[in-house]
Amino acid sequence: MKFLGLGLALPALNSCDSLIEHFSYNQNLEVSPGLEFKSLLGTFKSLEASSLDELVLPEGYSYDIICSSGDVILKSQDLKFGHNNDYIGFIPLGGDQALLAVNHEFLDPLDIPVEAEQRKAVGVSIVKIKKDSHGLWKFDEDPESQREFNRRITANTICAVSGAVAELYPQMTGTLANCSGAITPWNTVLTCEENYYLFDEVYKWKNFDAKQYGWIVEINPLKPDSKPIKHTALGRMAHENCALVKSHDERMVVYMGDDKERQFIYKFVSKNPVTMPKNFKDLDLEAHLSPFSEGDLYVAKLDKNLKFTEINSGKGKWLKLSIDNPILKSKFKSQAELLIETRLAAKYLAATPMDRPESLSVSPKDGSIVAALTYSPAEKNNFGSLFRIVEDNSHSESMTFRYENLIIGGKTSSFACPDNIHFDKNSNLWLATDIEGIKLNKAPYDFQGNNSLFVIPSEGPHAGKALRFASAPAGAEFCGICFSEDSKTLFLSVQHPGEGGLQSRWPYGTNVAKSSLVAIYKELEWW
Ligand code: FEO
Ligand code: CA
Ligand code: CA
Ligand code: CA
Repeated sequence: MKFLGLGLALPALNSCDSLIEHFSYNQNLEVSPGLEFKSLLGTFKSLEASSLDELVLPEGYSYDIICSSGDVILKSQDLKFGHNNDYIGFIPLGGDQALLAVNHEFLDPLDIPVEAEQRKAVGVSIVKIKKDSHGLWKFDEDPESQREFNRRITANTICAVSGAVAELYPQMTGTLANCSGAITPWNTVLTCEENYYLFDEVYKWKNFDAKQYGWIVEINPLKPDSKPIKHTALGRMAHENCALVKSHDERMVVYMGDDKERQFIYKFVSKNPVTMPKNFKDLDLEAHLSPFSEGDLYVAKLDKNLKFTEINSGKGKWLKLSIDNPILKSKFKSQAELLIETRLAAKYLAATPMDRPESLSVSPKDGSIVAALTYSPAEKNNFGSLFRIVEDNSHSESMTFRYENLIIGGKTSSFACPDNIHFDKNSNLWLATDIEGIKLNKAPYDFQGNNSLFVIPSEGPHAGKALRFASAPAGAEFCGICFSEDSKTLFLSVQHPGEGGLQSRWPYGTNVAKSSLVAIYKELEWW
């Protein structure tokens, strides 16, 4: 049994029919706790469900807290780690040094009632870490290092703009609602602006111009004074994340989900091949240099309307969202206006609505793309599914693909509401769930216990099964799944402990629960 067609070299993927048939997930696989799996972090035995207000890990594993909400990351400027940390990107600096780029997704207005303070609690944190004498990653306390690298990009940071929308907005103010993201091959950070509507409708920010948000923003973490760039060619929506891959001719291909009911999956293909140097330290990030500045945006259309609660497969195509399309030309004045209303443009072309596409991740072994469709009450889809795309001829720039609704969430597969997903170097799929706090441990979600982190092996006796690696504190979800360069440390965001009115005292045993970034590792032999 293999999951996701692994073990096949790319040239062997021409016959997608047989690939999809062969590797369909068997829903009768029994998932039980205590199954042993050798992960990149080390061997572990899968956990049973837990409702404890703890970060539960398998025997022999520990975690350290790197940063919690509100921690000071640069004393001289009173810079603080933001709220509700989400995406984590690892940027190696060589040796025992690295940076983490961390998104802050939303606010707790009761904790920070004033807009001026709220504006500083969102955006992105760049945080220097280093290994201690045991080889464990820790927050770097050295003031010199902090001055050199630690940085906050907030709702106040002026951003440059690339792409057609730059005609209307030469610059934009701030980044916010930063959900997931990616590290580029040239070590910049892409951060995805997701639920920007909250800042208008819930937090009631004054003079909020929604058109400046819902973009993907590139940041050079190695140059603290460089301007972030909003790449408008990648469209405007509730960007959950972006999964990057290089095409055969070295162009950048970006897969993106829009986490809202009945929204779509998108793909961007850059016009130009990557010419960026590997290490960006001494360069300003100029808009025209980045391959994300220019290219074509597509939306996925499937050959039939699916119920995403059922296993299914078929064919699909990518529809180009261009003002040159006669339908779109009759609806929008310019490519800039089209990009600002990306969702509407996709709808005009009758793209296929999905049950809330959250993260996507590309398998490093076969290039197939998996999307987490989290759940969708409007479609009576309680548990979500994993949806897989196999590009025709295994070319990421292909205009047609095969798809498969691969694993359905629920009691049999043992997980519900998949959200953050991440293929590790061995193409095992790490999957974090996001059942809303208020629904946790109640029917129909009680089988899962608290939100959890699972790994789905690609090969071996447990291929295709969701093995639980960690269970979150009360009300929290895990997100930001990120491995260190050597894959021996897993950085993870523990977001919103205490959500849904649940009592959480994590992580410090006090009445104030705090979102925190942790480093998880297998305990050293000699301990
Ligand atoms: Fe940022 Fe859709 O979660
Ligand atoms: Ca999410
Ligand atoms: Ca959540
Ligand atoms: Ca979610």
